[in-house]
Amino acid sequence: MAEKILVIGAAGQIGSELVLALRKVYGDANVFATDIKDAPPDVKKSGPFQILDVMDDKRLIHFVIRYKITQIYHLAAVLSGNAERLPLQAWDINMRSLLNILDLAREVGVKKIFWPSSIAVFGKTTPRENTPQLTIMEPNTVYGISKLAGERWCEYYVNRYGLDIRSLRYPGLISYKTEAGGGTTDYAVEIFYDAIESGKYECFLKPDTTLPMMFMPDAIKATIDLMEASAGNLSIHSSYNLAGISFDPAQISAEIKKSIPKFQISYKPDFRQAIADSWPKTIDDSVARNDWGWSHEYDLAKMTKIMLKEIKRKL
Ligand code: SER
Repeated sequence: MAEKILVIGAAGQIGSELVLALRKVYGDANVFATDIKDAPPDVKKSGPFQILDVMDDKRLIHFVIRYKITQIYHLAAVLSGNAERLPLQAWDINMRSLLNILDLAREVGVKKIFWPSSIAVFGKTTPRENTPQLTIMEPNTVYGISKLAGERWCEYYVNRYGLDIRSLRYPGLISYKTEAGGGTTDYAVEIFYDAIESGKYECFLKPDTTLPMMFMPDAIKATIDLMEASAGNLSIHSSYNLAGISFDPAQISAEIKKSIPKFQISYKPDFRQAIADSWPKTIDDSVARNDWGWSHEYDLAKMTKIMLKEIKRKL
């Protein structure tokens, strides 16, 4: 039987690219894209798209039964910066949406679920260099608390109900197709737009704020590879550490200058500096590498070249 895949958050930064990649693997008609907002034209043209609110558990369950959904990718979330503006609302959206899905998967018998976690599960007391898979986790942001709680719930549903739930602790994701909204690592996306449009960028983090990052094609590959890995190889049922590149604002700015010599960066740290300071600088993802053969492809130079080229084309 063909897999029938539901993607929730298909108009977002990850979803708008993951839907197209999944349609290549599983067939256009088998990947159902949904979001509370309108999706990019290629997502709507290449296969089914519907407006669906993940908080509406009744409609969600009808959808899953009606289309005989076998896998769910739940990508909808309020990111770190935005969550600090409305803490309880963000907690409610991030947690209730996940619990809706876990519980409907148990009831209806959905075979596999993907849910993204984040480097935000770590906090100030976590070792910040080469952060291990298993370590101290005391997140200080609402987003991080919701992701850590979500990881615990995922593992609970695996152990208690035998669901197949897979998850990655994504680093900051950098892409040119759809902008993220309200994240702390999003400076590394904004910087490209401003560099091209105005030749300057005011960064909300300090120049030496190193954070784990990843170019979107690597994140898409990691997601599909993990979902296709044989269940017997997976030793982690909370969420896998995942690493690509780590850099700071000064380093990405220097890389952009190689192509746009007149580019100027200035620094005006805001509340997101404290968030970034509580997150790791580098991640040890050896468990992912050993369990399902993960390896990344893009470094800072390669990513920067593509970002500049594609955003220039878009603008
Ligand atoms: N990129 C996310 C954020 O900054 C972290 O998962 O909120």
